[in-house]
Amino acid sequence: MINDIIKIAKEAGEIVRDGFNKNLKVEFKSNESDLVTDIDKASEKHITDFIKKKYPSHGILAEEGGNIKNGSEYVWVIDPLDGTVNFAHGLPIFSVSIGLQKNGKTIAGVVYDIGMDVLYFAEKGSGAFADDERIKVSENSNLRYSILVTGFPYNIRENPYNALEKFIAFTKASRGLRRLGSAAIDFCYVAKGVFDGFWEVYLNPWDICAGKLIVEEAGGKVTDFESKEINIHSKQILASNGKIHNNMVEILKRN
Ligand code: IPD
Ligand code: CA
Ligand code: CA
Repeated sequence: MINDIIKIAKEAGEIVRDGFNKNLKVEFKSNESDLVTDIDKASEKHITDFIKKKYPSHGILAEEGGNIKNGSEYVWVIDPLDGTVNFAHGLPIFSVSIGLQKNGKTIAGVVYDIGMDVLYFAEKGSGAFADDERIKVSENSNLRYSILVTGFPYNIRENPYNALEKFIAFTKASRGLRRLGSAAIDFCYVAKGVFDGFWEVYLNPWDICAGKLIVEEAGGKVTDFESKEINIHSKQILASNGKIHNNMVEILKRN
């Protein structure tokens, strides 16, 4: 199935690339920061049409609502465009993210970084790849030499969750902090050893599913802020190379 996931993620990515810097139909979802465009919807339709045709018995959990809950042991978890705000503003950092779960466990994950034209994928137990190359998390064990990444939830006004305090604390503790605007790409850059750690609150299952497996298969660790095991419904995500994980947990606890 991994070949099918890769193929459909690339095709959806082409739809997104074709829509970049064109006239978009933009709507607000929960507020004026939370956007959806006609391209998010077209990408999702392309992916879900494929699944319905080729795997009609499978379930679907997709951001823009193309869901099928049919009790199947297989569920596809789909973000048809991760980084919509970047996309809508002309910033070329966005992706398509597709995870496949069997009986609630992720068995495959694909993130297509559209701007860089790099396809990240992992199958449970088989390592993580960027195109044809095997990827690994960084070896760095010193938070002071680390580059970290985070993001902010759309409901930050109602649920600040100390996100800005954490941002300040990690800025002081690390070499530097980035905020890319696509959680799926944040995970992949941890998997590739570009970033040493990534944390965020209030992500959704479609932001987490593929990226979590890619980090784990690259030798990294993904937990909540107390280092506890999580599933894709967790509202806290801490992904790292494993070596700075405890140091990051300490800072998350204190802030
Ligand atoms: C968002 C991005 C962003 C993260 C937000 C997500 P979307 O997804 O992943 O990096 O900070 O929390 O909701 O809305 O562009 O699919
Ligand atoms: Ca997303
Ligand atoms: Ca999205």
